[in-house]
Amino acid sequence: MDTIEAIRTRRSIRRFSSEKIGNGLLTEILLDARAAPSAGNLQARDFVVIRQKEKMREIAQAALGQYFIAEADVVIVVCANQQKSSSYGKRGRELYCIQDANASVMNILLSVHARGLASIWIGAFDENRVSRVLHLPAHVRPIAILPIGYPVDKGGARTSRHPIETMVHYEGC
Ligand SMILES: Cc1cc2nc3c(=O)[nH]c(=O)nc-3n(C[C@H](O)[C@H](O)[C@H](O)COP(=O)(O)O)c2cc1C
Repeated sequence: MDTIEAIRTRRSIRRFSSEKIGNGLLTEILLDARAAPSAGNLQARDFVVIRQKEKMREIAQAALGQYFIAEADVVIVVCANQQKSSSYGKRGRELYCIQDANASVMNILLSVHARGLASIWIGAFDENRVSRVLHLPAHVRPIAILPIGYPVDKGGARTSRHPIETMVHYEGC
């Protein structure tokens, strides 16, 4: 699958089969996450990999009861690391580390899709609760929960998008 095809055909998948993801494949996905751009190449992000079902269930509870998360074979929690971007001051701590993390999130979603796996960006969660479950230090903020697995099917119809003219503005808004 080429890049454009991956971008255009990716979709959020919430149902996963019980098929296992090998460690080699997981490593490739993490290398794709690492390859994302970052402010000043400070790479102010961390990837917490969860394979224990009990921990996945705790994360699902912290994600407002989105229990399909625990059906995935692997869950990656992408975090912003404020310490790693602190040399950029307030903007580094409040913005760049979050952007660094989000760039990796998109790399993971596209990598997973291109490799025949499925995922979804989970952003609705109790941040403090996720931090407690994962023992995150105060300077590491969970940004996205990404359950990853083999899809059971191709899912429903592709989600629609707003007309392009409602979001594109030439030479200013
Ligand atoms: C920041 C963000 C947070 C999201 N949080 C959730 C979530 O908590 N639960 C969920 O089921 N989907 C969540 N999604 C997935 C969106 O619902 C999905 O991307 C959107 O409906 C478009 O569908 P598509 O990803 O298949 O193109 C989130 C997506 C983003 C970008």
